[in-house]
Amino acid sequence: MADSDHSRLSVALVDVNEGSEAAFLTLARTFASLILRKGYGRAETVRDEALPHRYYAVSHWATAAAAEQCHSDTDVQAVTIKLYQIARVTHVVNGVRRADQLRLLIDDRRARAEADRRTGFDRRGKDVERAEGERRKAAYDRRLGSRRLRDRPGEVDLIGAARRARENADAAFSHFKVGAALEAADGTIFSGCNIENATYGLTICAERVAMFKALSEGHRVFTRIAIVADTAAPTPPCGACRQILWEFGGNLEILLANLKEEKGKHLLKDLLPLPFDARLL
Ligand code: THU
Repeated sequence: MADSDHSRLSVALVDVNEGSEAAFLTLARTFASLILRKGYGRAETVRDEALPHRYYAVSHWATAAAAEQCHSDTDVQAVTIKLYQIARVTHVVNGVRRADQLRLLIDDRRARAEADRRTGFDRRGKDVERAEGERRKAAYDRRLGSRRLRDRPGEVDLIGAARRARENADAAFSHFKVGAALEAADGTIFSGCNIENATYGLTICAERVAMFKALSEGHRVFTRIAIVADTAAPTPPCGACRQILWEFGGNLEILLANLKEEKGKHLLKDLLPLPFDARLL
């Protein structure tokens, strides 16, 4: 893809509610003809061959200004509002900087992962340069067992994955085993457990193991993390983990659980008020 094109490309994953495919395709056609007619650019909708109900909404903007205009166009907004009623939209490539990037995603839990606390969307654009097919294939190739439990993100048993990860914890010193499972925007789950060592100080928590595994495999957009310990009271992430989760995962949904039940649900921004991140550098 030419560089100029790439810089003005937006791609969103669209998970359409069951039974709403026809309505979605109609909306997609309306959107495409709207943005063509108004000169904003060109839109295409690609069906995912592997996952039922999943589509890729690709927009090639005529110019960055056209994209801006399109997002504030009330005709377009009328279409996107309907879209959000029948589908979950996850923006994965945003080739155009928008100050108010969250506005269109307001109802989308995944939107919380979009606020880039590091270097903006330039970096994200690079991260997704690999063709989608290639990414998917790589994800399948390395997937183990039940790592990806269901097709649709959000339906995955994230707590179950954290419980299983906890079994691998190496907590010879504290005997306090923790498991974590981090969900990336494409639904891939990265698990982690705490790993202690003889120096004590080099211990790493389950949450950071999960996050670093995901980052090292190229993921940059995350939605939720589950944290599990075998205690009656929930085990929230430590301060160091809150910082790392915030910087790389944004305002994640945090599910706390023990071996029997879920014990709490939080947003990271509530656990880490007044955060420090790269925007302040
Ligand atoms: N630990 C975690 O892995 N995650 C948490 O959220 C809290 C603490 C680990 C670190 C250490 O191995 C053990 O639990 C006791 O602090």
